[in-house]
This record gives sequence, C-alpha cells and structure tokens, in this order.
Amino acid sequence: MSTQKETKPKKITVDTIKKRKNETPIVMITAYDALFAKIFDDYADIILVGDSLNMIFNAKEDTLSATLDMMIYHTNAVCQGAKRALVVLDMPFGTYSCKKEALKNAVKVYKKTKADAVKIEGGAEKADIIRYLTRNSIAVMGHIGLMPQHVRNEGGYKVKGKDENDVQRLIKDALAVENAGAFALVVEGVKPEAAKEITKAVKIPTIGIGAGAETDGQVLVWSDMLGFFEDFKPKFVKRYLEGAKLVREAVERYANEVKERKFPDSEHSY
Ligand code: KIV
Repeated sequence: MSTQKETKPKKITVDTIKKRKNETPIVMITAYDALFAKIFDDYADIILVGDSLNMIFNAKEDTLSATLDMMIYHTNAVCQGAKRALVVLDMPFGTYSCKKEALKNAVKVYKKTKADAVKIEGGAEKADIIRYLTRNSIAVMGHIGLMPQHVRNEGGYKVKGKDENDVQRLIKDALAVENAGAFALVVEGVKPEAAKEITKAVKIPTIGIGAGAETDGQVLVWSDMLGFFEDFKPKFVKRYLEGAKLVREAVERYANEVKERKFPDSEHSY
C-alpha cells in the first residue's frame, strides 16, 4: 500500500499564464473532446476549444458556421478530460459583434461550462468589446494577425506583417487588446520578425501559430500536429505523428482479421 498521498495537479489559472511572459514558453494545443483533452492535460498549459473544430469535426470549409451551442458542447467534453490546463473557448463568428451580445454570450459560456476564458479574434476594432467583457469578470484571450473568421471578407488566409506599415498596425492592435484587459494574445500567420516586435511591445504573453519562434508560447491544432487532418498541411505545421496513417493501418488489420475469422481468438473471448 502506498503511503504517499496522491497529489492533485495544480490548476493553471489566468494569473499563472500572465506570469509566463518572458519565462518558459507556454504550451497550448486545441482539443474538442474529453479523450484527447485528458492526454493533452499532462503536457499543455492551455487547451483551446478552437472553432477550428468546425473544419476538423464537421469537415466544413471554414470556421464561420460554428455555433455557440456547438462550442459549449465540446467545451463541456474537454472540461471532463482537462483538470489542470487552462481551458479557453473560442467565441464563434457573429457571437461578439457588439458589447451587449458579446457579454450575453460570454456569460452563457461561463454559466454552462467550466471554461476559464474566452478567445476573441480582432485588434483595435474589438478593444471596446474586450474591455466590456473583462470589466464584467470574463477573462479574454485576444487573437490578431491572420484571423480565420475573416477568411471570406479577405478572400483567403493571408500572412500578415510583411511590411513596416503592417507591422506597426499589428503592434497597435496588440497594444489595444492588452489595454482592454486581455490576459494573453494569440498571434497567427505573421512573419517571425513582426511577431517578435509584437511580443516586445506588449506585457501580456503572446502565443504564436505560424509566427516563428520568438513568441511567449506556441499553439497548434491537435489534428494537424498529430497527422489526422490530411487535406492540406500549412508550412508552419510540424507533424509529430502520422495519426491517420497509423489508424488506417490498424483498422485495416482489424477488418482483415474479422474477414479471415482471426478475431476474436480465444484470448479475446469469454
Ligand atoms: O480555432 C482554432 O483552433 C484557433 C487556433 C488556430 C489558434 O483559433
């Protein structure tokens, strides 16, 4: 019998994340269900229930048709698996167009899930909304640079920060989001030099995706990094596993064994 007391892992809070500026890089990964969230919880500081689930889980072309109810459903599943990591729910397109609507929807998220924070795409133009949420006790993570919810009005996914004017605009956006009370900032799809400048300009931690190595942390979509999403692979994605290939091989073996009456054998029968 073990005499050692089981120690519960210490829950990561918004404050813990804030203190990680210029410290050990923050590890963030997406998850959409309890099964994977439980595994990621041992390694990730933040689990993001990204609206990318609309593309991964629903095979839609973009994130725009994700709904708040969908995000709430998946966040509840993730919270069942994640006991240590900070859980962030991505506010879907059209749910934070004005202050009142944003607060109503964010309050719904807090009441219906155990999410620690919400994420909002947008820079200076969203500062008033972020301020309104943070003043009403909602923790907000910002998201600037390439914003997937802008894909249709921008006509595609465009890398940002390619010239000095754009870098200065991004820095203004980052400062506006920080001044509005956000505790951290996702910087997506920007040139590494621009991400470095943004990271230097703000006191809150920046978390990069396709933004080079100079941010305070990194985030990847789980199905990209584990090789389950095979439709395309953006340049910034590193595959740590060939998930789809491994699963296909395993399911093929199972199918063959069933057809050949090799499964179940006596070891797998009562
Ligand atoms: O929806 C998502 O997964 C995201 C990440 C790409 C940061 O917003």
